[in-house]
Amino acid sequence: MQLYDRDRAVISGLEKLRFFPVALTGGTGTYLIEEGGRRLLDLSAGWGAASLGYGHPALCEAVSRAVENQAGATLLSTTNVAAVDLAETLLKITPGGDDRRVWLGHSGSDANETALRAVTAATGRKRIMAFEGAYHGGSQASMEISGHSAQEGVEKSEHLTLVPYPDPYRPHDGDASGEAVLEQIRARLEGDCPGAEVAAFFIEPIQADGGLIVPSEGFMAKLAALCAEFGILTVCDEVKVGLARTGAMHCFEHEGFTPDLVVFGKGLGGGLPVSAVVGPARILDFAQSFSMQTLHGNPVCASAAKAVLDTMRTEGLAAHAARMGDVFMTGLRELSGELPQIGDVRGRGLAIGVELIEDEAKTPAADLARKVVYRAWELGAVFYYVGMSSNVIELTPPLILSEDEAQEGCSIIGQAIRDARDGKVDEAKLAEFAGW
Ligand SMILES: Cc1ncc(COP(=O)(O)O)c(C=O)c1O
Repeated sequence: MQLYDRDRAVISGLEKLRFFPVALTGGTGTYLIEEGGRRLLDLSAGWGAASLGYGHPALCEAVSRAVENQAGATLLSTTNVAAVDLAETLLKITPGGDDRRVWLGHSGSDANETALRAVTAATGRKRIMAFEGAYHGGSQASMEISGHSAQEGVEKSEHLTLVPYPDPYRPHDGDASGEAVLEQIRARLEGDCPGAEVAAFFIEPIQADGGLIVPSEGFMAKLAALCAEFGILTVCDEVKVGLARTGAMHCFEHEGFTPDLVVFGKGLGGGLPVSAVVGPARILDFAQSFSMQTLHGNPVCASAAKAVLDTMRTEGLAAHAARMGDVFMTGLRELSGELPQIGDVRGRGLAIGVELIEDEAKTPAADLARKVVYRAWELGAVFYYVGMSSNVIELTPPLILSEDEAQEGCSIIGQAIRDARDGKVDEAKLAEFAGW
């Protein structure tokens, strides 16, 4: 039986978000290896997690060393050198106050959930603000403060207030500057969501799953100032776009503000499960035994994360991501001249969104997006779509992407759009893949 059929027979659908029947047996550099040996250019990096690609020597060495002489399994009741090294490095590379701590976890979801629980418990304020379209995780509490349409069936926290994300391509109230959103937030804080009751504002500095939206220029700095006025903590969710991906170590650096708490995940572990929250000791040290799981701070994952951060520095991956992002986006913009289906190409560094539209009224082209990602897989590349209307191609390749690979990516994307437009994707094959 083929691997994908074996998967169908044994793996729970609860954790599947499938777009095409890709079945992997390996990976090297920026390429995934499919059963049968075909190489696929990975323009997703597993939703941004495989920051160094596959088989990077620094990661292989760090993980092998850590398992060969393993300093325990957990951080809860014993400390270990890898977890402490990682926490020290995270503090060094993340701007913020003097008295800070680091919480280590497995996933963006558990890190956001911990940030949520800690900010509310430590401040005594119950309310949270977040953006419509936000995806902060797939665990119960992180879903309760998310605003993504994929989680529509999930009951939101009664303490959550969602506000529009400042989207320059589809502006709220026709105002691309974001001022209308800021006014709305101020009105809520002075009205039905009193600022003095709000513990934190959860912010994605680029709204990734909501449509790879780069916020209106200057918006986030103004929002942070507004939060400070009301004593509201800013929690910056850098899970998908943080750590060198956008051409800076932190995406918030582009926005001119320093968050109170920063949440890391995905690319931090280079493909292994590690997440972190960095924030003030008064929040992250306010209680003991408050948010813990047995394998949190596991030395193998912590060693992997430390190797990822060291490699980002020694290989200059932030600057590399900025350069490759320029190459990639230039190529995609050239394509948009030929293909009116490309409504917008946006992003920072190697966090890129290609919004597909049906017409000049910018009607979201969700059906086209489904077909494009499927066709691209047939042509030899892996990437998916995001967005509240499921019409934005998301490109978050490994940060080691080369110029040739960026050009190969553009060429496959262009061909996939042409083929999907021309009806070359078999509807019957797509039927099983609902995506999101
Ligand atoms: C911005 C952001 N935060 C949090 C998460 C949740 O991370 P994880 O799926 O690793 O729990 C995601 C996942 O897509 C994300 O994009």
